[in-house]
Amino acid sequence: MSRTAVVALVVWVATVSAAAYYFFSGYTTEGSDGRDVVLLTSAERDEVLAEMRGLLQATADITGALARGDNAAVAEIARPVGTAAMEGESLALLAKLPFAFKEAGLNAHTGFDLIATAAEAGATPQELTGMLSDHLMVCTGCHAAYRFGE
Ligand code: HEC
Repeated sequence: MSRTAVVALVVWVATVSAAAYYFFSGYTTEGSDGRDVVLLTSAERDEVLAEMRGLLQATADITGALARGDNAAVAEIARPVGTAAMEGESLALLAKLPFAFKEAGLNAHTGFDLIATAAEAGATPQELTGMLSDHLMVCTGCHAAYRFGE
């Protein structure tokens, strides 16, 4: 192998390794409370936190609909915060998130789709409350492990 080919190979391996490293670890540092701090720009952080507040609002609204036994409203509220809400998410932002964070983020949306589908299929309020309870574990699990920083 020529010297140039060896250099090219080394650069290629280094680039691929760095990409793989960031794909799994994201841009993080250790926080003062032991959680991993995901480093985002302030605009990205504002965007994600606004989305989070939307998830909490949907959870509050779904709880109210469950108390009224209104399955149609449960589905109507849950569907837009399901995977449909992920359309147009920025690739630059996604690239900064650790793999486990991306996975939990995806689950945070698919769980709402499952609730919407079950509500449409006539699940009882008790069954739907059980699903919502399981779903909230995805939220609390991620909050226990991560926070945001700049
Ligand atoms: C993939 C990880 C992850 C998942 C899943 C997740 N969150 Fe969050 N959420 C975060 C992080 C990180 C923060 C910022 C916490 C911090 O910086 O201390 C946050 C913050 C929030 C906030 C505060 C918003 C603000 O304006 O400060 C709310 C409300 C919230 N999340 C609701 C939810 C709800 C409801 C769910 C589940 C339906 C959920 N989150 C799922 C990671 C997640």
